[in-house]
Amino acid sequence: MPAIDHTPRLALIKILADGQFHSGEKLGQELGMSRAAISKHIKVLQQWGLDVFRVQGKGYCLPSALDLLEEQPLRAKLNTTDFSLIPVIGSTNQYLLDRVGQLASGTACLAEYQQTGRGRRGRTWFSPFGANLYLSMYWRLDAGMAAAMGLSLVVGVSMAETLAQLGAENVKVKWPNDLYWNDRKLAGILVEMTGQAGEAAHLVIGMGLNVAMPDTNAVDQDWANLKDTCHTLPDKNKLAAALINGVTDALKQYEETGMTGFVERWDRYDNFNGRAVKLLLGERVVKGIARGINEQGALLLETEAGITPYLGGEISLRADE
Ligand code: ATP
Ligand code: BTN
Repeated sequence: MPAIDHTPRLALIKILADGQFHSGEKLGQELGMSRAAISKHIKVLQQWGLDVFRVQGKGYCLPSALDLLEEQPLRAKLNTTDFSLIPVIGSTNQYLLDRVGQLASGTACLAEYQQTGRGRRGRTWFSPFGANLYLSMYWRLDAGMAAAMGLSLVVGVSMAETLAQLGAENVKVKWPNDLYWNDRKLAGILVEMTGQAGEAAHLVIGMGLNVAMPDTNAVDQDWANLKDTCHTLPDKNKLAAALINGVTDALKQYEETGMTGFVERWDRYDNFNGRAVKLLLGERVVKGIARGINEQGALLLETEAGITPYLGGEISLRADE
């Protein structure tokens, strides 16, 4: 199936991104189309999650100015030239997974809107246009799949450190794959991989970071926006580049020295260390006190039986209130 050409809709968004009113007639003139065609495109933008509204006599408007990702500023700030900015995509993770054989390690993919953004175990990642960051990176890990265990933790620590450097306050990590703020989900990390046992692992690391997401009932748990953690929020190009550069450095270090050093870095940002938690393991629930992580990336849970390490993708951690 040929890909849909979103050029007119993206041009429309660029005009509306100033947060000012634009009449249907003027938009039509600027984009070389009828007012009816503009109205149709606006409906699609609304489906993409943009809250475009219309006032009689004034025209179309967004509730506030929109900070958009752009090729040139990204290129200027990223430490790699291997990246694709694809404003409308199914999933940035899927895009890279489909191209694993053709990519250099460190290649990034960024989007403004994901039609089928995903979380762990087939769950949906709500990805409205322009509100948040949706990005993925490809990494070839010569040490193979077994070495990939601690990876989402390393990425989480790196993201928390970068956000702290940029002025975000109290951003925390939650084992194994989230960033939290005030006990609410700020970002999710999804590591997917392909490869044969005994060979290099091909990893795709996806990061979804809420930046300025409007109120929604599409997310069925407490969540947070970066703009609420940070009074000096940089623009999205700077933010995305800082995160990608930081994760690249962290992955290089992980390749050389594994989890050494990362356990202490994790401890500084751990949202649940010392708190009563429950682990959901399928049907089974284990309660205890979280005691950080070990060098394998396992969660350490203290119960009456002592401290037990828990490792594996099927485990969910929750506060035990
Ligand atoms: P776990 O502890 O197992 O990771 P989780 O609830 O965080 O549990 P994930 O698969 O990691 O589950 O993330 C997907 C979930 O995240 C969705 O089911 C939804 O509740 C939530 N979610 C979806 N989109 C967003 C978003 N943009 N911001 C915050 N949370 C979201
Ligand atoms: C989670 O908490 O379950 C992980 C969510 C990961 C979301 C990101 S957004 C960019 C990348 N593309 C996807 O489809 N998912 C990840």
